[in-house]
Amino acid sequence: MIVEMSVVAAVLAVVALIAAYTLITGSPPMPTSAKVKAAMLAAIPGGFEGMVFELGSGWGTLAFALAKRFPKSQVVACELSPVPWLFSRLRQALERLPNLTIRRMDFHSLSLQETALAVCYLHPGGMHKLKLKLEAELPSGALVLCNFFAVQGWRPEAVTTVDDPHNSKVYLYRIIR
Ligand SMILES: C[S@@+](CC[C@H](N)C(=O)[O-])C[C@H]1O[C@@H](n2cnc3c(N)ncnc32)[C@H](O)[C@@H]1O
Repeated sequence: MIVEMSVVAAVLAVVALIAAYTLITGSPPMPTSAKVKAAMLAAIPGGFEGMVFELGSGWGTLAFALAKRFPKSQVVACELSPVPWLFSRLRQALERLPNLTIRRMDFHSLSLQETALAVCYLHPGGMHKLKLKLEAELPSGALVLCNFFAVQGWRPEAVTTVDDPHNSKVYLYRIIR
């Protein structure tokens, strides 16, 4: 009985932690679907190289795929919510990718000046705040790849509509200064 109660308490604590950080960040740790992930990887121009930042990396769905797809690029995945962050760190212990760094942090305290590609799947309010940071810090030529939510006021270089129940869109932007 004590074991069962401890398991229930642990599960409730994990759910509460995920819910609390969803309130803090405004984004639940909803992973990108397999179809959208494929569309995002396909949207990145051939010959791409350079630093990749995943801003809000959740359970690591995109971060691992990006690190495998671009083994010569350093991929830095940032996640604030402890539960998905811990999950992705455990996955990293099993699936070692030398070019992948997973950090538990608010990506707003990260410098994006070395970015070649920034990837995100947030929510409208989060995208608005992130837009200001991207405009202030990204170098000319940097790519920004967004799942579902566009950067309002920016003109995408490419938009992909995914054949899924939401007709999800993937937006690719290029910073030109
Ligand atoms: C919708 S999920 C997407 C996860 C992952 N990028 C994917 O596509 O599978 C958004 C994630 O961003 C994280 N997040 C939101 N704002 C953040 C911030 N300022 N710093 C770090 N992580 C953040 C949330 O905790 C959440 O896990």
